[in-house]
Amino acid sequence: MLKISIAPAARSDVLALPVFESDLADAKGRLPALTELDRALGGLLLSAAKDEDFTAKRGQLLVLHTHGKIDAGRVVLVGMGIRSRFEPEVLRLAAGAVVRRVAKGSAKVLAFHLSATRDPAGCMRALVEGTRLGLYAFDQHKTAKQKTALRELRVVLPDGTPRTPELVAAAKLGEQVAAAVAWARDRVNEPANQLTPSYLANQVMALCKPRGLAVQVLGKKEIEKLKMGMFLGVSQGSSEEPKLIRVSYEPKNPKAKKRPAVALVGKAITFDSGGHSLKPTDGMVDMKSDMAGSAAVFAAMSVVAELAPPFPVHAYAGACENMLDAKSYRLGDVLVSRLGKTVEVLNTDAEGRLVLGDVLAYAAEEQPAMIVDLATLTGACMVALGRYVTGVMGTDDGAVWNVLEAAKASGEEMWRLPLTESLRGQLKSDVADLRNVGERHGGAITAGLFLREFVGETPWVHLDIAGPSLSTKENGYLAKGATGVGVRTLVELIRRRAEEIEPHAP
Ligand code: BES
Ligand code: MN
Ligand code: ZN
Repeated sequence: MLKISIAPAARSDVLALPVFESDLADAKGRLPALTELDRALGGLLLSAAKDEDFTAKRGQLLVLHTHGKIDAGRVVLVGMGIRSRFEPEVLRLAAGAVVRRVAKGSAKVLAFHLSATRDPAGCMRALVEGTRLGLYAFDQHKTAKQKTALRELRVVLPDGTPRTPELVAAAKLGEQVAAAVAWARDRVNEPANQLTPSYLANQVMALCKPRGLAVQVLGKKEIEKLKMGMFLGVSQGSSEEPKLIRVSYEPKNPKAKKRPAVALVGKAITFDSGGHSLKPTDGMVDMKSDMAGSAAVFAAMSVVAELAPPFPVHAYAGACENMLDAKSYRLGDVLVSRLGKTVEVLNTDAEGRLVLGDVLAYAAEEQPAMIVDLATLTGACMVALGRYVTGVMGTDDGAVWNVLEAAKASGEEMWRLPLTESLRGQLKSDVADLRNVGERHGGAITAGLFLREFVGETPWVHLDIAGPSLSTKENGYLAKGATGVGVRTLVELIRRRAEEIEPHAP
C-alpha cells in the first residue's frame, strides 16, 4: 500500500514534475520549478527535452538520471498539454502514467510536484487518485505476482501554496475514492465462476458492514414474495440463486434522517450469456463485467459512509446470471413485473432492463428525492458515444444536470441522450403492455425508455456505462480491464448535495 503525505521532496528516488507545452516553448512564463531544476542539473533537463522531442504533450514522459546532482535519483517530466485546456483529469491521467513507469523500476519514494493551478484541492485529489489507481493490478489469479518497490508518495506543494486543511481533506478523500474504485475494479475483474450473486452479496457485506452501513440480502423466496416477475424470469435459467442486495446509509441526526433519500441502483448480471438469444463468443467473453454498475454503486456507498451526508442514501442491486438452460425464460414469454405492467420478451439478451425495471420500481416505492442507476446496458450506447463516454438519460432536467456536473468535476466523461417520445412506440407489444426491445437504431434510448416505465414520478437519471466499464488498454490511471467507472461521479454527487444542504458540514 502506497503511503501518501504532503511534504517537502527531501530525498526521493524519483522527482516528478508536470509541465505544460508553453513551459517548454517559451522561457518567459516558465514554471519556476522547471527553471530551478534545470539550473540545478546544469541545463541538462531542457537540453534533454529538446533532444528527445519532449514537447509536454498530454501523457508524454521524459526520464532523466541526475547522477547525484540533486536530491533525487531521477527526474520525470510529464506532459500536461495546453495550459488553457487543463482540468484535474489531465493530472490524474499523467500521475497514473508516471507511477506505472516508476513502479517498474526500483524506486521506493516518489516526490510529485502539484501543479500550480486555480484548483489546488481538485488537483490534489486527482494526483492521489491517479497515483493510487496507476498502481492497480488484478493479480489474484496469477501465481507469480509482480511486486513494486514503490511505497511512498510525497506531494510537493508549489511555492506559496499553504498546506491548508482543505488540501489535507482533498488528499484523504482522494485516497478513499481510489480505494473504492479499486474495490469496484476487483469485483468486475473477478471471473463469473467465482463471483456469483451470493458471492457478490457476501463481498458487499464485507465492505459495508464494518463501515456501519445496513446490508440486507434477499433470496429467491423473498424475491417471489416481492412479485419481481421480470427479475425472476431472467434468473430462472441459472443454477445460482438470485440475490436482491440493499445497502443503506442513515444519518444519526433525527432531522437529517427524515430528509428524502438518494437511491442508487446498479445492474448486477454476474454473467450475461444472452440466454436463448445467445451471444456469439466475441460478444460473451467480457460478460463477467455485466455487474459493473452494481460494483460502482456499492463501492460509492463505502465512501458515503465516511462522508456521512445529512440525508439517507440507499443502494440496490438485483444480482443474477443470464444463462441458457432448459429452465431459461423463452422468447415470447410474458413476465409480470412488480409494478404490475406485463412485458413480452422478444430478446432474452435484453435482460438488464428487466431486472432493473423491478429494482427501480422497488427503490421508487421508498419515495427518494432522486434515483440514479448505473448499468452496462446496451452495445448501442457504445456505438453512439464510443468506448469512453457514459450515456446519460433522465426524466428530470435538474437531476440530470446535477449528475453531469458531478461527472465533470470528478473527471468522468458523460453525455446526455434524449429520451425521445418518438421512439416510445417501439416498445408496444401485441400481447402485453410492453415489449423488452425496440429497433436497432436508438437502442440505448429505447432501453432508457423501457426503464422509465418503472420509476413513476421519481426524478431519475440513468447512466449507460457499457463502454467505459472496461478499458481495452492501459491508459494513464486505467489498467486493462475494469475501470471502476461511476464511483467518482456518485461520490461527488452525494458530496455536493451534502454541501448544498449543510455547507462545510462533512
Ligand atoms: N450486457 C449487455 C450490454 C453490453 C454489451 C455491455 C457490450 C457491455 C458490452 C446487455 O445485456 C445486452 O446484451 N444488450 C443488448 C440489447 C439488445 C438485445 C436490444 C445489446 O446491446 O446488444
Ligand atoms: Mn444481455
Ligand atoms: Zn447484460
